Amino acid sequence: MIREKQKIVIFFALITIFIGYTSFIYLELPVKNKIATGNSQKGKILWQQYNCNACHQIYGLGGYLGPDLTNEFSRRGSLFIKGYIKAGNVVMPSFHLSETELNDICAFLKDIDSSGNADPKSFIIHYDGTIGQEK
Ligand code: HEC
Repeated sequence: MIREKQKIVIFFALITIFIGYTSFIYLELPVKNKIATGNSQKGKILWQQYNCNACHQIYGLGGYLGPDLTNEFSRRGSLFIKGYIKAGNVVMPSFHLSETELNDICAFLKDIDSSGNADPKSFIIHYDGTIGQEK
């Protein structure tokens, strides 16, 4: 039978392990320095305002009518993106945005693109339970 003293020791050992593990996990956030700034922040607001997320995903989250745009910037480049938004097509409405607004959306998509690869096949699980990405 476990005595009272042993219970207290086990209790504090568990608390210490919990605090240690939690601090270890949160010490290194993968997106620590990735807070959107300047034009990218404005682009993010436009992204929300025009509800692009209703049809597009970022990191797989969003609507499924259009494609995932996480890595659109490196795949297509800003010229294509701007042209596409202006022109639209049968399934995507054309958005009458100013050149500045188009640049802001591109800055946002560039920022998102630099944060990683959206392809789930590139995800790897580390020994400590955190998730990383193959480069
Ligand atoms: C009503 C749904 C809808 C909304 C809202 C929408 N899109 Fe789209 N978008 C689509 C669909 C569907 C496609 C794919 C069309 C195709 O492949 O023929 C697309 C394609 C695109 C593409 C080209 C993707 C590629 O590489 O082929 C870009 C860039 C894009 N959208 C950006 C945006 C942005 C930025 C916004 C917000 C300002 C937005 N879209 C809002 C439906 C939408």
